Amino acid sequence: MIENRMLEADHILFRYAQNAKPVLDDVSVEIRKGEFIAVLGANGCGKSTLAKHFNAILLPEKGTVWVEEINTQDEERIYDIRQKVGMVFQNPDNQIVATIVEEDVAFALENLGVPQPEMRARVDEAMQMAGIFKHKDKAPHKLSGGQKQRVAIAGVIAMRPDCLIMDESTAMLDPIGRDKVMRTVQKLNHEFGITVVMITHYMEEAVLADRVIVMNDGHVVLEGTPPEVFRDSDKIRAYKLDVPQAKELCDELRAAGVDLPETIIGAEECAAALAALLK
Ligand SMILES: Nc1ncnc2c1ncn2[C@@H]1O[C@H](COP(=O)(O)OP(=O)(O)O)[C@@H](O)[C@H]1O
Ligand SMILES: [Mg+2]
Repeated sequence: MIENRMLEADHILFRYAQNAKPVLDDVSVEIRKGEFIAVLGANGCGKSTLAKHFNAILLPEKGTVWVEEINTQDEERIYDIRQKVGMVFQNPDNQIVATIVEEDVAFALENLGVPQPEMRARVDEAMQMAGIFKHKDKAPHKLSGGQKQRVAIAGVIAMRPDCLIMDESTAMLDPIGRDKVMRTVQKLNHEFGITVVMITHYMEEAVLADRVIVMNDGHVVLEGTPPEVFRDSDKIRAYKLDVPQAKELCDELRAAGVDLPETIIGAEECAAALAALLK
């Protein structure tokens, strides 16, 4: 067992129908407590299917999935698994159940029968952490997409999970909403130590992760720090992913004879390197 294990998939195989081609084929992934992981891969490569294994919505046909010390096959621990691993999905409108923000955030706790004073404290804390406290009395449908996703995040955080899985939760947002949601999850990771698994199509989000996992056609094909994973732009394109914009710009400038290091992937590093050259 890896040290500080949050999530582990150990050689898992999964298919939706008997005899069908596996959607996950011999997938192994290890995620430690406190890590911020980005998962990338073209549509249909199995990202959501993998995510659903991490809170026992799906179980593998072969191999084992672990949530901390719990094997997800252990039916008696299903509540513990769901409490430890919270999921936020793509469409914010599908996740909202109440007509007032704070009631929505309280919904899951209410169902669990958490006593009133504790519930009040946890809901307020979760709304603060997700940055939507000032909207607590509003109707969710009047909020922007990004605000709605932060309401969904608050509802999950109120459960005090150890790990947050975001399954393309920024995909339907405008750039401002996306940025705010990203900052919110970064804060939850940095300040509160919540492990984050961010499935995304945005390379600018992946660049900010501690580690990136790239999937292709049911397999994990690349894994490493963002500079390691994005080093080879052609390989990234071969997996139908975008190259981060700053990296693409540096590739072009290098091809035009400008002396820039191949390791640059983020906008800030790119700006700093260009500024240094212009001095
Ligand atoms: N409920 C389902 N029943 C049958 N096939 C499914 C189901 N969900 C997903 N699939 C198929 O499994 C593959 C992986 O899907 P998914 O995990 O959603 O990929 P991703 O999240 O990377 O886009 C796709 O070929 C998809 O069509
Ligand atoms: Mg998906």
